[in-house]
Amino acid sequence: MAHVILRDITKRFGSVVAVDKLSLEVARGQCISFLGPSGCGKTTTLRMLAGFEDLDEGEILVGDRVISSSFKNYYLPPEKRDFGMVFQAFAVWPHLSVFDNVAFPLQIRGLSRAEIREKTTKALTYTGLLDARDSYPNELSGGQKQRIALARSISFNPTVMLLDEPLSNLDPKMREVMRFEIKELQKRFNFTIIYVTHDQAEAMALSDRIVVMDFGALIQQDDTPVDVYLKPANKFVFSFIGLSNFLDVEVADGKVFLAGTRPAGPVTAVVPPHAAGKPPTLACRPAEIEMVPTGGVRGVVTRRVLLGDIIDYVVKVGPTEVRVQRNVRKPLFGEGDRCGLVFAALHWYDESGARVSA
Ligand SMILES: Nc1ncnc2c1ncn2[C@@H]1O[C@H](COP(=O)(O)OP(=O)(O)OP(=O)(O)O)[C@@H](O)[C@H]1O
Ligand SMILES: [Mg+2]
Repeated sequence: MAHVILRDITKRFGSVVAVDKLSLEVARGQCISFLGPSGCGKTTTLRMLAGFEDLDEGEILVGDRVISSSFKNYYLPPEKRDFGMVFQAFAVWPHLSVFDNVAFPLQIRGLSRAEIREKTTKALTYTGLLDARDSYPNELSGGQKQRIALARSISFNPTVMLLDEPLSNLDPKMREVMRFEIKELQKRFNFTIIYVTHDQAEAMALSDRIVVMDFGALIQQDDTPVDVYLKPANKFVFSFIGLSNFLDVEVADGKVFLAGTRPAGPVTAVVPPHAAGKPPTLACRPAEIEMVPTGGVRGVVTRRVLLGDIIDYVVKVGPTEVRVQRNVRKPLFGEGDRCGLVFAALHWYDESGARVSA
């Protein structure tokens, strides 16, 4: 059953259409991530959900209850929406202890002292903050501060959590720890999560569903993380997720070659469907290309950079540069070495950018 429903919501700031007729349904208990470039409208969408922003058009429902409607000019105020919220900046009150920070939403809801103590203690326990309950935020690390924000947002048992880049101010290790903690909290409390990030690894790790957006919050793909990664719906999604090569090809003798490089050998003998004339563009990820000493599409290594566990190569095939990434433990090639490329996974996109199935 749909828990949160967005119907054609639109938000303009002057001439900028920040969110352009966005429609979306999120199931109860689902974790959905909005992933997209800076300025594409993710935060604006979340702010409309939270009730901090009205709508120029459209409506938002939770279950069968309308909480924002441009038609009825009706907006339930943020504090009545009972959404848990964590935003990027550590929004904790410096003059309140950890306990009081977390207790605050319960106090404004007018709960009894006993209830406040019980619920606050529970939220502190699940976020690993119980021992720090009497500390003040400035005595704590960035990760702990963000835990206070998390604890505060779960203390009143919200059914919906809005998280806007909650981990982006943390170092990479802490970010990974917190990712798992958010997932654990969700399992325990079974809230619906709407998560905003431009970190694809974070979106992949947390979400049941990823919505990739372009400017105006225009949905480019709405899918499972695996399908967003393995079957990007269009060129935009392909280039937004992971690293990409986009290569022009030509077809000859029933085989596909990189454009102008027939002597180097074919990429594949499976020709993707195309109208007479221009074949689709070949897209492939650097990690989906093998390098072999003999055979393959022949080229020359022109750059080799060590990136920790992986080596990043540029291989020139005729005039075309292909980026390849291989594990450092595989046989190495040096700059100037000849090698063959074997394309393990091929994706095809037509001139409009739409995916073509081979
Ligand atoms: N209060 C505002 N006044 C004017 N323009 C705004 C306002 N808030 C957002 N915008 C504009 O709306 C568009 C969407 O902004 P938004 O903050 O939603 O993007 P975002 O996807 O969250 O980006 P980021 O990844 O950088 O956080 C941008 O063009 C932004 O400049
Ligand atoms: Mg934002």
